[in-house]
Amino acid sequence: MAGRLQGKVAIVTGAGSRDDGVGNGRAIAVLFAREGARVLLVDRRLSAAEVTARMVAEDGGEAESFEADVTREDHCRAMVSRAVGRWGRLDILVNNVGIGIRRRIPDIALEEWELQMRVNVTSMVLASKHAIPAMIHGGGGAILNISSIASLRGRGLAPYAASKGAVEALTRAMAADHGRDGIRVNAIAPGPAYTPMVAAGMPDSVREARRKSTALGLEGTAWDIAAAAVYLCSDEARWVTGVVLPVDGGVLVN
Ligand SMILES: NC(=O)c1ccc[n+]([C@@H]2O[C@H](COP(=O)([O-])OP(=O)(O)OC[C@H]3O[C@@H](n4cnc5c(N)ncnc54)[C@H](O)[C@@H]3O)[C@@H](O)[C@H]2O)c1
Repeated sequence: MAGRLQGKVAIVTGAGSRDDGVGNGRAIAVLFAREGARVLLVDRRLSAAEVTARMVAEDGGEAESFEADVTREDHCRAMVSRAVGRWGRLDILVNNVGIGIRRRIPDIALEEWELQMRVNVTSMVLASKHAIPAMIHGGGGAILNISSIASLRGRGLAPYAASKGAVEALTRAMAADHGRDGIRVNAIAPGPAYTPMVAAGMPDSVREARRKSTALGLEGTAWDIAAAAVYLCSDEARWVTGVVLPVDGGVLVN
């Protein structure tokens, strides 16, 4: 049976992860390749992307690691050129890179604020700026931005929450702008999944509180986020654009 992303070419940013852990970018890249996509694994740490590339190869999939810092426009241009140069087209861009600066506003330095917005928002603008013309050339595509339910409930993460609010507004506006180009633009707002990004140094009590914050009482993983990403980037979602899908075990309804 053909995979759900058969024949498609995808870029996943932040496709590495810490050590052997499986973060959202790595899980998305691995599931995309399992579904038949050829995937450019973009990370500013090449060694992290290469771990993901090995996972894809073990599954029999096709991927290439690519070192780039997505806060730099020349790197974003180069990653799109590489995907198109190697595979002849670009169908999917997953803007997954994001960092969380844990500061309340009176405590934040201007440089930290600017870094938060540059990594989480500007990176998506720059990557999309260069991906969209390539997608239009191929007849359309799908862009998926990784947000967070923190946009809806700040709780000590004001800079991060603000950046993710911007990601969601950007998603809706780009969906409107590029619908007639055949480009769908959606976002996933992950809840408190247990991933390497948050796991470092997390006490068991906090991990348990995160599980209990869900309506389902279940701990989520990066694979839950990746499963939703496959759907939103596949042709099954051909009539879905401009949405922000919470994947959070029901935290928002609890
Ligand atoms: N883990 C959670 O519970 C959770 C919850 C909500 C949202 N998110 C979102 O998920 C996304 C990332 O998740 P993840 O699990 O893949 O994180 P991760 O920390 O496992 O991986 C992120 C990767 O991005 C790379 N990276 C960082 N800055 C970069 C840059 N400027 N250019 C290129 N690569 C860069 C890192 O090297 C790393 O390999 C973020 O947008 C984050 O806000 C996560």
